[in-house]
Amino acid sequence: MALSLLSHFFLICILSKFCITNFTRAYSQCLEDQKSLLLELKNELIFELSASRKLVKWNNQTENCCTWDGVECDNAGHVISLHLVEEAISGGIENSSSLFSFTYLEKLNLALNNFNSTQIPKGIQNLKYLSHMNLSNAGFGGQVPFELSLMKRLVSLDISSVFPGIQPLKVENPNLKLLLQNLTGLKELYLDGVDISAQGKEWCQVISSSLPDLKDLSLRWCKLSGPLDFSLSQLRSLSVIRLDGNNLSTTVPKFFANFSNLTTLSLGGCSLEGFFPGMIFRIPTLENLDLSNNELLSGSIPEFPQGSSLKTVVLSYTNFSGSLPDSLSNLSMLSKIDLTNSKFFGPIPSTLANLTELVYVDLSLNSFIGLIPPFYIIPQSLLSLPSLQKLMLSNNQFSGKVEEFSTLHYSSGLYELDLSSNRLEGPIPESFFKLESLTILLLSYNFNGTVHLEKIQRLRNLTKLELSYNNLSVSSSSSVFPQLSWLSLASCNLYNFPDLRNQSILSFLDLSNNQITGEIPSWIWEIGNGALVQLNLSCNFLVDLQKPYQIPKNIAVLDLHSNQLRGELLLPPQAVYVDYSSNKFEKPIPLDFGYNVSFFVFLSLANNSLTGAIPLSLCNAGYLQVLDLSFNNLSGVGKLPLSLEKCKSLEVMNVGNNNIVDSFPCMLSPSLRVLVLRSNRFHGELRCLKSWPNLQIVDIAYNNFSGHLYPESFSSWRAMMLNDDAELRRNHLRFKFLPLNNFFFQDEVTLTIKGLELKLVKILGDFASVDFSCNNFQGEIPDAIGALSSLYLLNLSYNTLTGLIPKSFGNLTQLGSLDLSMNQLTGVIPMELAGLTFLSVLNLSYNKLFGQIPNGPQFQTFPSASFEGNTGLCGFPANISCSITDENEDVSPPKLGHEMEIEWDYISAALGYVVGLGSIIWLLLCCQSVRQKYFEHVDQVLVKIFYRQDRKQRRGGRVLRNQVRRQ
Ligand SMILES: *[C@@H]1O[C@H](CO)[C@@H](O)[C@H](O)[C@H]1NC(C)=O
Ligand SMILES: *[C@@H]1O[C@H](CO)[C@@H](O)[C@H](O)[C@H]1NC(C)=O
Ligand SMILES: *[C@@H]1O[C@H](CO)[C@@H](O)[C@H](O)[C@H]1NC(C)=O
Ligand SMILES: *[C@@H]1O[C@H](CO)[C@@H](O)[C@H](O)[C@H]1NC(C)=O
Repeated sequence: MALSLLSHFFLICILSKFCITNFTRAYSQCLEDQKSLLLELKNELIFELSASRKLVKWNNQTENCCTWDGVECDNAGHVISLHLVEEAISGGIENSSSLFSFTYLEKLNLALNNFNSTQIPKGIQNLKYLSHMNLSNAGFGGQVPFELSLMKRLVSLDISSVFPGIQPLKVENPNLKLLLQNLTGLKELYLDGVDISAQGKEWCQVISSSLPDLKDLSLRWCKLSGPLDFSLSQLRSLSVIRLDGNNLSTTVPKFFANFSNLTTLSLGGCSLEGFFPGMIFRIPTLENLDLSNNELLSGSIPEFPQGSSLKTVVLSYTNFSGSLPDSLSNLSMLSKIDLTNSKFFGPIPSTLANLTELVYVDLSLNSFIGLIPPFYIIPQSLLSLPSLQKLMLSNNQFSGKVEEFSTLHYSSGLYELDLSSNRLEGPIPESFFKLESLTILLLSYNFNGTVHLEKIQRLRNLTKLELSYNNLSVSSSSSVFPQLSWLSLASCNLYNFPDLRNQSILSFLDLSNNQITGEIPSWIWEIGNGALVQLNLSCNFLVDLQKPYQIPKNIAVLDLHSNQLRGELLLPPQAVYVDYSSNKFEKPIPLDFGYNVSFFVFLSLANNSLTGAIPLSLCNAGYLQVLDLSFNNLSGVGKLPLSLEKCKSLEVMNVGNNNIVDSFPCMLSPSLRVLVLRSNRFHGELRCLKSWPNLQIVDIAYNNFSGHLYPESFSSWRAMMLNDDAELRRNHLRFKFLPLNNFFFQDEVTLTIKGLELKLVKILGDFASVDFSCNNFQGEIPDAIGALSSLYLLNLSYNTLTGLIPKSFGNLTQLGSLDLSMNQLTGVIPMELAGLTFLSVLNLSYNKLFGQIPNGPQFQTFPSASFEGNTGLCGFPANISCSITDENEDVSPPKLGHEMEIEWDYISAALGYVVGLGSIIWLLLCCQSVRQKYFEHVDQVLVKIFYRQDRKQRRGGRVLRNQVRRQ
């Protein structure tokens, strides 16, 4: 989908360019030799007759070949231009003698054909007069031939190729310097998608020294690095600069502001950093500015003088901030402004409504406040702009009641309106439902009151409607939206299914978080004859599927979690995402489960009462990334199927809290990030002949594992060692498993923090933890654990570990919780532990430790219970003093009041917030301050959990845990 949209987009922009250049046509009388050359050419080229519009019409019958489509001649009748765009040509040019015999040719355009990754033919150098060469997106691949560098008359060279999936062109040998050094007349150079792989200094200097007259420079996705060298500043004629998609990792140079003819500056996704020079906004000729997807690039929008030429301003996904100046109204040509997901704040200037050319406004995901401008007093309203087509204001802090407005004054061309996730109050004004051109209306997370779907029916063109999570009652008897393909009515106080029988193209339906009871009606599967692709009925009170039912073939996402479903587990044959967790399914999983459904990426059957074995067929096609079978009664033959080996993409595997009797599953794929085997009957040694470099969370507590802890097991867990490598970490965290939607990985993993089962509803990005507690491990703790520097939680309690606490634990700088209690550890507590500043929970109780407890600010905060049961320990906070000086010190543990209760809501909201939105992940990753803020909150919550746990433990928690252990 995304792919085809992308290509569609490029198609349009490329085509429009050609349409403009292909205007003139010469009608001189063609020469006979030129005619036969053309016919020969047609004969040589391999092209699809049905798709060709020009070539196919060339024939010997039409006398004057200069009038043939795609052919242009000079006055003497020589062919000087061949324009064969999108003629479905797939070959025949390589050794063509005729094409390269058009010695008068000045313009050659073969764009948008499919030459199937063949090389650009060397013969092209025979075209000595060629000034304009366009081979873009023609499917050429491999090294750009040396012969191109000899074509000294070239003024315009376009060999861009932006369609993914074909072998790219590359400029390696000859390199960029050799290729360009003699093409000194070039004014336009388009190499998008050509692999150049050059350093900043190199490519900048080659271009600036070889091409003094360059006007258009387009080097998108060329694998260029930064910085942007000062030599570029010589190219004073530059009008178009496009460098999107190169990892430049640099600041934007001020000298760009001196390009007095600059019209387009496009630097999207260039890993730019630093502060963007505000002067550039004010270049009088500048029309298009795109700095999107540079999360580290800061800046603000300056005041604008009158007479700016700016038409499009795209600053989405950047670190730009500040408020919008009133002088924005001086941008009288502005048609598109996209500031999505940046850090803008403050009210939106009402003067924005003076911009009569505005077509596209997207200010989503910022912190704008105040009233939404459309609802200022008419006529000063964005919505009254005749040109406006798209207005997206979601995820800001717009507030207040939205009044009814007279639609007479409003734009009749508005087709997308998104006000979701603001703080708007009151009922949804019915005026919205009179904006008849709307195709997309998104109003989730705002209003209250009641909405009758029937009223919305006036919007005949609606394709997407979202009213979810308003404090809203949606009522419906029967409603028909002929064009509707997307309907989201989550949390709308629905008690029944709305009647959607007659929706013929509905493909996305979300009715989750309502009060719907009873059976899932049969008709739901028949909507639009199986048009449904995504169905979310989770968090209702559904008990069964009305029979008979036929799951449509197309369903890719089916979320039925948190209902009361029982009976058969149904199998959507093409599904990629299936969540049946927290229901009442109790039968065995059908053994042929995996044979029928081979595209699973996400499968959760957790928290049911499933019995029997895990089917061998599960990983039939091996796309599975998340498998959660926890909290069931799975046992069957007792083992994990060896076929799990075939799950080559598995990243999360949770079979915790079942009855599985098996040894450690060494067969699991190296792609694994999260492994939970907790509370089963796993046994034997923890030793495999392979490594899991991505492992992040390992929980094998409450089993019967035994033997030593082998250093190799730990040293291969590289993900836990990531420290400052932002790039790795970024990839590591980008857990988007499908480009379907904004689906992010959602899984419940139960972690244990000091005996408390903490349900992390979504996994924190760089939360690394190891829980081996309550097993029978013996021997020494390997030093290698100290290298897992991202570790947040380490629990080895309730084993029979001996020897010393490794000094290397002092390297676990992120550690928040360390539990080594109930072992046989000896020796002194290493001084190094006193340096762990994030450590908020420490339990070393019931070991054989002795000597002085290290001094350190952190250690002063631990209760004495953290050290009890070690007869040899002395010093604060143990109750035995090592020396006389300690004797009079206050040894009372920190006071714990009611404010220490866990804020469960907060933690799930916080975690959901983080992982739910990709953009927010980016914020977390790229913006240090946000990240700090976020983790501060989480830390606070965890600290509170720990403290509460401490309290509990002192009230005899230990007894409880012993009981649990013996179960
Ligand atoms: C085209 O027609 C002319 C006569 O009208 C003939 O002499 C010539 O051979 C033909 N060329 C081809 C390629 O058929
Ligand atoms: C394209 O090239 C590949 C590899 O050279 C070849 O296998 C394939 O048949 C070609 N396709 C067409 C349509 O020529
Ligand atoms: C290209 O330019 C270089 C340096 O300017 C020169 O030495 C070389 O002879 C030129 N090559 C051709 C083929 O003109
Ligand atoms: C800018 O464009 C104008 C008009 O096309 C031209 O006359 C002028 O020389 C250009 N300036 C530079 C620095 O190339």
